[in-house]
Amino acid sequence: MKVNGTDYRTVWMEGSTVFMVEQNLLPFDFAIYRCMDYECTCEAIKTMIVRGAGAIGAAAGFAMAQAFVQNMKEKSADFLAKAKTDIEATRPTARNLFYAVDRVFNAGLQSVEHAIIEAQQIADEDAQSSRMIGQYGSELIHSGFAIETHCNAGWLAFVDYGTALSPIYTASEQGKEIFVYVDETRPRGQGARLTAWELANENIPHAIIPDNAGAHLMSLGKVDLMIVGADRIAMNGDVANKIGTLEKAIAAHYYGIPFYVAAPLSTFDPDCPAGNEIIIEERNKDEVRMQTGTDEKGNMHSVTVCHPGSKALNPAFDVTPASLITGIITERGIIKADEVEIGRFFG
Ligand code: MRU
Repeated sequence: MKVNGTDYRTVWMEGSTVFMVEQNLLPFDFAIYRCMDYECTCEAIKTMIVRGAGAIGAAAGFAMAQAFVQNMKEKSADFLAKAKTDIEATRPTARNLFYAVDRVFNAGLQSVEHAIIEAQQIADEDAQSSRMIGQYGSELIHSGFAIETHCNAGWLAFVDYGTALSPIYTASEQGKEIFVYVDETRPRGQGARLTAWELANENIPHAIIPDNAGAHLMSLGKVDLMIVGADRIAMNGDVANKIGTLEKAIAAHYYGIPFYVAAPLSTFDPDCPAGNEIIIEERNKDEVRMQTGTDEKGNMHSVTVCHPGSKALNPAFDVTPASLITGIITERGIIKADEVEIGRFFG
């Protein structure tokens, strides 16, 4: 996507250096962060400098390729095994991470060049599948529609275009008039900070809404369609996505509003039969207790926004059962979530 007239991907690798949009600075500042080794790239994934299922996957693939480059002299199998474990430990829920690490690790067993080519290929595939998701998903959007989305499944969450936002971008390119309700997405505010920034960057009309406003707007008939992303999809069609998605799906179901998930096939986990087997990442409780923003001089500060002595819980994802999902928009078309044969559907 273009930022200030220049085309960017969210994450990319040149030589053995990984570059990424520094997402913790958005929407206040647009900066590129660089990592020279796999350890740095791991830390960037952990601290959410790069985040979102597809972008995490691409970054993890690049990190694995960096590890092969770092190991060129020593040729230590132990170093590579440790690097793989380190990368896989960064964020447990995103399926794309494991998918990418496995592919690059296996390619790297042939040669370092193969590892690099495979990592680049994964990033290219991610961008391409996001584009296709936009084509298929845009068919669901009619002019005059108001669409609600949760978290950020835009281009920042993938290598380019995004998933939940890609149909919105395509519909806008097609000249359809649309409006987007952006769930703020506590605790880290990916909606308020990232999705809103992306939509503003593309001149798409939108409003940030509090996380607890969705059902109200649906009850008033103001939402025509909801589209969210996914971090892992089980073979029975259950979907893990950012915490709060489940509540939206329940509300949408109650009010008869179509609820779609947009995700590439790399997010489907053939080894996961049902959503209750998905490991849900628990993040630092300070993400709940504190908020970060800028003052009038543009300096970033974190402040406590709750009773300081109270405990906090911070599950980062929830699982929406397939029965609440109208369909899943993939790069090969839209499928019904409760088609148990999802894995076999695509061969
Ligand atoms: O914790 P994050 O910001 O990495 O969350 C992942 C996500 O981006 C969302 O759950 C998103 O809706 C899924 S699509 C990438």
